[in-house]
Amino acid sequence: AGGGGGRAGSAGGVGLRGPGEKQLEVDRRDIGRRISFIKKELEKVRAHRSRHRSRRKQTQIPVVALVGYTNAGKSTLLNKISGADVYIADKLFATLDPTTRSVNLPGKTKILLTDTVGFIQKLPTNLIAAFRATLEEISEADLLLHVIDITHNNAYAQSEAVLNTLKDIEADHIPILTIMNKIDLLENPESAKDNLEEFPDAVAISAFKGLGFEELTAMISKKLFETYEKIKVELPYTEGALIAKFHEVGNIENLQNSRRGVIIEGRIPVRIVAKYKKFEI
Ligand code: GTP
Repeated sequence: AGGGGGRAGSAGGVGLRGPGEKQLEVDRRDIGRRISFIKKELEKVRAHRSRHRSRRKQTQIPVVALVGYTNAGKSTLLNKISGADVYIADKLFATLDPTTRSVNLPGKTKILLTDTVGFIQKLPTNLIAAFRATLEEISEADLLLHVIDITHNNAYAQSEAVLNTLKDIEADHIPILTIMNKIDLLENPESAKDNLEEFPDAVAISAFKGLGFEELTAMISKKLFETYEKIKVELPYTEGALIAKFHEVGNIENLQNSRRGVIIEGRIPVRIVAKYKKFEI
């Protein structure tokens, strides 16, 4: 009986472990399903954003993307500066699906300001893959606004992490305007720039209280204009699309017809300069 009891006991043990293992398996399958669901959703977001981008490109409105360490205040800034309601959460990756709003700059310029996912230290490669949608948004922008939480103890390390990630995703050629945020929390808001002397061009703001927005929009205008490059090209008549584009988005200072084509001198956005390089004279 004793032996039998022992067997029964051990069988009971297996019996106890059995359901546990089953539960693990069920959990694993659930997680697997969840992962493939999220992957599909991400792919949908990516396709959606990419359709949006191509439509936006046709309108030729400059695209400015907010980048920054998580919690720096990107969503708050987008929300305040555009007056639109954007989901804000004080947590990691609140901005999985990037949001875009139109913002008016001084004068008549209109831009599209787009929020992106918050970066973290050493964004792992597989996460980079997962956030392709938002990262593509960044690499195709005309200007990046790098939002830094100036009150954070690790503000400098965080900003370095952001710049490194931009390098990883090959977006470090895009002009950057540095924004020091949360100056309302500083005893002396004027000291914001002293905290990070490495960024002398930075604009100090409070996204939360709407401080410094005038200087910010003026700087965005200035930086966007800087993103135009002067070029002189001879475009063969067969390059109709390039000739049309120069007229459409460029600033033509001089135009002459030659035997082979059109000689145009003027400024075009840096992002399209490469297409014109082989016709440069
Ligand atoms: P992720 O979505 O994680 O990338 O964050 P985010 O950069 O979009 O930050 P978010 O706008 O969600 O702000 C993070 C927290 O900082 C929120 O609690 C905001 O209320 C707060 N915050 C943002 N800007 C300011 C500011 O200018 N001053 C103060 N005091 N708090 C701010």
